[in-house]
Amino acid sequence: MTKIYEATVTAPVNIAVIKYWGKRDSALILPTNSSLSVTLSQDHLSTRTTIRASPEFSTDRLWLNGIEEDISASKRLVNSITTARKLRAALEKKQRDDGVASEDIVLLSEWSIHVCSENNFPTAAGLASSASGYAALVSALGALFQLPQSTSDLSRVARVGSGSACRSMFGGFVAWRAGESNDGSDSFAVQVADRHHWPDLQALILIVSEKKKTISSTAGMQTTVETSDLFAERVRNVVPKRMAAMEKAIAERDFGTFAEITMRDSNQFHAVCLDTYPPISYMNDVSRSIASIVHAFNTARGRAAAAYTYDAGPNAVIYALKDDMRDLAELVTYCFPRGSTILSEDFYADPFNMFGSADR
Ligand code: ADP
Ligand code: DP6
Ligand code: CO
Repeated sequence: MTKIYEATVTAPVNIAVIKYWGKRDSALILPTNSSLSVTLSQDHLSTRTTIRASPEFSTDRLWLNGIEEDISASKRLVNSITTARKLRAALEKKQRDDGVASEDIVLLSEWSIHVCSENNFPTAAGLASSASGYAALVSALGALFQLPQSTSDLSRVARVGSGSACRSMFGGFVAWRAGESNDGSDSFAVQVADRHHWPDLQALILIVSEKKKTISSTAGMQTTVETSDLFAERVRNVVPKRMAAMEKAIAERDFGTFAEITMRDSNQFHAVCLDTYPPISYMNDVSRSIASIVHAFNTARGRAAAAYTYDAGPNAVIYALKDDMRDLAELVTYCFPRGSTILSEDFYADPFNMFGSADR
């Protein structure tokens, strides 16, 4: 009889309010600065990954959205799988050392795996597919290998796949502590507050374009580190203060401060992209008009009632408190009548659960 072990997980995306952009070590994926994000509900944007292990598989294989990818061509895939396998091998060794009978130890660390992963939203379009993708991969490996490591420990494994993935290992509000070591032992994610901490906070996603970006996050941030003068100022003098202020704003549920820092940090990240040489523009005219609409809305309310943020792509994520979100979504629908902003019932039941679509 063929022996097959299998695990299936889903993992959410996270959208940073203090952006990670820049590596001090590209192989281990160690960032130049700490970052902070909100993990969104899995109901709309998520990755679902199934991994099977069998002694009869001859090589590791991976299918992403139904198409086979060459694992060996991707250092980050190899790194994350190898790191998880080493943890499994250590577990098997411990079982042996503890006197577990050899026929009761399953040598999963020695078997090849088949990975099947699906994103239910645009891949590589600035909606954090690498975050949910690698978080799902590592969570599935953790489940398959029955790894005893803590979530923060596993976030280090997700980090070697894609930096932002370490934050998708947790729900709620999550910080990625940059750390100072050369080996990455102190560079991992921690939850700063769970999702129930701020039930009125909602996220609205406006899909401006589903197209794959022309410059990946990995390539873009590498050019930024090499060429931007503004970047050093951001890392040294801006982000540390913002991390502290943001954590305080979240702890106090101070939306005005949360919103202003979120928008300023998104703007600075895109300014740093423009200061990169050759310059990088991830936002487009529709993205910029959405930002203007949010500012007009805030001016009309006389306070920061909504906050936009953009990752490495043109798509907008807007954070607002429940009462304001309904009005903001109506305004967006009015401004982009051909778009199909969805105001679903479950949006109101679920704090991080709204999905819309702006004009394309
Ligand atoms: P995004 O803004 O979507 O995170 P990135 O440029 O950071 O874009 O990363 C996109 C890349 O992440 C994809 O080209 C693919 O290599 C990888 N990726 C995305 N989803 C998955 C997944 N489910 N499993 C494995 N790798 C994935
Ligand atoms: C703009 O985590 O996708 O979304 O580590 O090279 O895989 P790699 O990059 P990635 O970069 C994310 C950049 C960002 C900001 C953020 O999520 O913090
Ligand atoms: Co990414």
